[in-house]
Amino acid sequence: MSISGVKGMNDILAEDTPLWQELESAARRIFSLYGFSEIRTPVVERTELFCRSIGETTDIVEKEMYTFEDRNGLSLTLRPEGTAPVMRAFAQHRMHASDQITKLYYMGPMFRYERPQKGRYRQFHQIGAEVIGSEDARIDAQVLAMLLHYFEAIGLQDVELQINSLGCPECRPGYRDQLVAFIEQRLDSLCDDCRRRYRTNPLRVLDCKVPGCAEATVEAPSVLDHLCTGCQDHFARVRGHLGDLELPYAINPRMVRGLDYYTRTTFELLTSHLGAQSAVAAGGRYDGLLRQVGGPDLPGIGFAMGVERLALLRGESRPTVEGPDLFIAALGETAGREAFRIMSKLQLKGIRVEIDYRGGSLKSQMRRADKLAAQRVLILGEDELNRGTAPLKQMADGSQVEVRIDEKLFDLCAHLLSTEGD
Ligand code: HAM
Repeated sequence: MSISGVKGMNDILAEDTPLWQELESAARRIFSLYGFSEIRTPVVERTELFCRSIGETTDIVEKEMYTFEDRNGLSLTLRPEGTAPVMRAFAQHRMHASDQITKLYYMGPMFRYERPQKGRYRQFHQIGAEVIGSEDARIDAQVLAMLLHYFEAIGLQDVELQINSLGCPECRPGYRDQLVAFIEQRLDSLCDDCRRRYRTNPLRVLDCKVPGCAEATVEAPSVLDHLCTGCQDHFARVRGHLGDLELPYAINPRMVRGLDYYTRTTFELLTSHLGAQSAVAAGGRYDGLLRQVGGPDLPGIGFAMGVERLALLRGESRPTVEGPDLFIAALGETAGREAFRIMSKLQLKGIRVEIDYRGGSLKSQMRRADKLAAQRVLILGEDELNRGTAPLKQMADGSQVEVRIDEKLFDLCAHLLSTEGD
């Protein structure tokens, strides 16, 4: 019986990796423009880290984590997101000691036991960025500018940026109480899930997809009407800077994030092309998170994008993959051996070369060269070996030159390198 992969965890096949590599290298390029450096943390952390940061009553911690005990009885969890691990690493390595502001980015697999569907998987990949050490509203705007710059760079412009402010520990409790009081009067219209969680996590009720719950909360109090002066001022500054940078956005006071660590600015980048999975990127401020995981009391802000969702949005627009620089069609055993030797020498010089290991007729080898989209073909038979030269054919226009195949292959190399990029 054959063994299949785990449900919700996908292979990224060779035909898809060029797109993934493009998405990743664009992130490296754009993020470095804004002063971000890459950090790589383990995929496994102590379970406690996620419980403390994401929040005990969130869907992620309640029902989506891959948690297990190691052989020593230590509870470990496959990371469901990247922010908490970065904060853990920041605190552990005392990064605040080396700079007042730290900008980090990461990319890699995350794990959530969700119901798989298009755009939602159990192993998925995020590209994320975090800034630690400043509560300046210009940082909020810069993080958003970088995110939109990235989307422009990868050719995805049909997205909507929505922003909100979730307040701070000073103003959120007052809002929360009002929201709970509002919900309590409408309990009969709510789904079982919301009735169960409205006291522990009332904001989640605003985000419930059940039509009855959405209807019952149309008139719910808005978090933006309950911000303290500090949060109001911060949000106004963020909007002002976004205006200065001419970045389009919409305010969505009902935006609720599925993680508890957020304070003040939160945002999502939405698309209408992925059905229910409309968020391609999301993030926000988390000014108390670092302290919560045992680090210094420093503010932070960041985002993460779902790479599978980016790839789905790019759809058919794939990077073109160039075929080998050279294909050597060899006729006969001696020529086959010589073709292999020449190929190996040229590869050492940085030239991409292929041969046909099955040999076969010239016609079948030319077909293979075509299939691989080889740019040139060197035809090598007994005669060519005897005279020390061979025809080199340009596949694009069919033109042919005779090149010398001497011991050092100077002639052939010069031809390949001089016509590079043709
Ligand atoms: P999140 O909203 O949970 O935030 O995830 C961010 C993005 O990851 C989503 O917008 C989506 O594109 C992608 N994503 C999430 N779950 C899945 C899934 N099951 N399958 C496919 N893609 C998925 C965070 O994770 C925060 N750590 C973001 C952040 C960084 N906030 C501050 N800094």
